[in-house]
Amino acid sequence: MTSRKPIYVTQPELPSLEEFMPYLQKIWDARVLTNGGPFHAMFEAALCEYLGVKHISLFTNATIALVTALQALRIGGEVITTPYSFVATAHSRMWNGVKPVFVDVDPETLNMDPARIEAAITPQTTAIMPIHCYGTPCDVEAIQRIADDYNLKVIYDAAHAFGVRREEGGELRSVLNHGDLSVLSFHATKVFNTFEGGAIICPDAKTKQRIDHLKNFGFVNETTVVATGINGKMSEFNAALGLVQLKHIDEAIARRGAIESRYRELLRDVPGVRMLERPAGVTPNHSYFPILVGPAFALGRDGLYHGLREHGVMARRYFYPLISDFPMYRGLPSADAARLPVARAASEQVLCLPIYPALANEDVERIAAIVAAGAVASSLPMPLAA
Ligand SMILES: Cc1ncc(COP(=O)(O)O)c(C=O)c1O
Repeated sequence: MTSRKPIYVTQPELPSLEEFMPYLQKIWDARVLTNGGPFHAMFEAALCEYLGVKHISLFTNATIALVTALQALRIGGEVITTPYSFVATAHSRMWNGVKPVFVDVDPETLNMDPARIEAAITPQTTAIMPIHCYGTPCDVEAIQRIADDYNLKVIYDAAHAFGVRREEGGELRSVLNHGDLSVLSFHATKVFNTFEGGAIICPDAKTKQRIDHLKNFGFVNETTVVATGINGKMSEFNAALGLVQLKHIDEAIARRGAIESRYRELLRDVPGVRMLERPAGVTPNHSYFPILVGPAFALGRDGLYHGLREHGVMARRYFYPLISDFPMYRGLPSADAARLPVARAASEQVLCLPIYPALANEDVERIAAIVAAGAVASSLPMPLAA
């Protein structure tokens, strides 16, 4: 085993402590720690402006935000969703007593395949819950057409889609404006982090108000509780950090873009490796760098995964296993493997390579070289101690 420091799939971005200290000092002086303090209000306004959205409600994390989004729209019955996501997407429905119905994904984007949605609709269906996987926008127009035809709500799990824009009518617009609600994650592993955190993008002030009540136990004022809400509030600490992080996000995304371009150059001709293409007109955030390791790759996906680990590179199999394979979901008729061939194949082939602003160019080159070696040999050379 190499003595180099391990390289994880991501490394959280942080501002310097000096830059953050004055914000902490203000919190210490004001003694307002949570419950919608001044940094919370400032961060909401700053995010609306940066993201190009009208209303936003901050949360303690995206999972609680997803649970609350379903409550806010009073979703019940069945929700059509994708098995190719992080397990929180499905768990949020179970917390609301809603049954997930899995449909397969599109082979090009690995997002929910709109062509599969209609056949999954039943009289119990109330909503569609897709994710913009790896930050690649879903086919939002096709999904909205189906939702309109069948009077369904659309809640996007946009945990990966911070800052992603699409060209629409000659303008660049945030992908977060689609559907009835979109949910962001600011978890430490995300493009933009507040240690832990999340948000719901709301289309109007009334919906935001309902969501603000729901994330504060259902309190409307000191004595009135209108719903069985939860504690989903973001603290002043996280909001202050978010304000500082916003100052650096464009630079961070640009550096991620440079790393992605380098990987693409280095891996272009490697046999058995497929890289996902994005739909035209998308301004990406480069949140992940997935490769699909196909049958022509000598070492195989899991061989590469373990081989990279031996070399200190902790690539991750996002998303393996499929959500529909976990014990609480696999008994559902829609979880039947035969109905989800594209998602299954992707799950067996995918490997997300490290991508984060502080990743050095020589590490990108070393990682790509290991991948290239695995393409043509059934074992990798032993790592050299650094
Ligand atoms: C697609 C997706 N949805 C939801 C979540 C949950 O976010 P959080 O950790 O902020 O609760 C994550 C990752 O953490 C995710 O990748």
